[in-house]
Amino acid sequence: MSGLDDVKKLLAEAKAALSEVKSPKELEAVHLRFLGRKGEVTSILRGLKDLPDELKKAVGAAANNARQELEELAGTIGEKFKTLKIDPTFDPTLPGISQRLGAIHIINKVMAQIVQSFQRMGFAIATGPDIETDYNNFEGLNFPPDHPARDMQDTFYVEGNLLLRTHTSPVQIRVMEKTKPPVKFIAPGKTFRNEAISARSNYVFHQVEGFLVDKGVSLADLKACLVAFCKDFFGEDIKLRFRPSYFPFTEPSAEVDITCFLCKGEGCQLCKYAGWLEILGCGMIDPNVLRNVNYDPEIYSGYAFGMGVERIAMLKYGIRDIRLLYENDIRFVRQFI
Ligand code: PHE
Repeated sequence: MSGLDDVKKLLAEAKAALSEVKSPKELEAVHLRFLGRKGEVTSILRGLKDLPDELKKAVGAAANNARQELEELAGTIGEKFKTLKIDPTFDPTLPGISQRLGAIHIINKVMAQIVQSFQRMGFAIATGPDIETDYNNFEGLNFPPDHPARDMQDTFYVEGNLLLRTHTSPVQIRVMEKTKPPVKFIAPGKTFRNEAISARSNYVFHQVEGFLVDKGVSLADLKACLVAFCKDFFGEDIKLRFRPSYFPFTEPSAEVDITCFLCKGEGCQLCKYAGWLEILGCGMIDPNVLRNVNYDPEIYSGYAFGMGVERIAMLKYGIRDIRLLYENDIRFVRQFI
């Protein structure tokens, strides 16, 4: 049984529901709930016949008015949804603007590739700090104080006997002082030299060092290791050339060139028409270095090598200016994602 109060309450409830409507779909649901065939207003109208005569007229009129008012209100809201203008230049079929993910910088990527290649050959990873002692960077590596070989590496001194390491070779000293032979390590990291910035050099760069000490290690082992790495990293048809060189911490020492992978040795702009590209320094670890870390050079021998990551990245990807690697221009960085 419904009375006038029920009609009033229902009307208020329906109006509130309509005012909350935010889409044509919601509007349809509210319309159905109150005005549909089984809607709440409709059922009051249907139930009129069961009301006592004295109520029928009043409740009937009120319910009919309520229905009319609600129909009108729903109609107006429906119109509003229809007339919401869609921008004619908006094409909903166009692809959206995708989110760009961050990526590993080309230097770290190349460094990881180099390290992984040696890891597959059984080298473990070691690291050392950017700020080193003079001893680990120079003296332990057989550079006597005031020796002119120090001029090969212009050094940033920090204070006292501390400096920014000029190469990753001090990691050799750190590892060997703590570890009994045999050792087989790869040491990637940042290095610093007090050099003018140019297209070919920067005062900060990266190296990957490698070293192995065991009984009976020979130059043939060093060559086999580097040949395997170069073929893995640059391609099967790469050839290597060992040029005699000098480092205080290796004897004999060599610099390694590979056949230019762009022209295959014919001569081109990349290799400056030499057919060869210099990629690393290496040698057999000097007996003095082994003695400095309390390894007996009568029993043990070893090899070491070191390569510049920027140089290898530039060769591999045809990058002409080292500064591009440090400017973080997104247009450059994105090319190597
Ligand atoms: N540390 C040398 C450099 O920075 C490279 C090198 C490492 C050479 C190990 C020989 C053995 O030039």
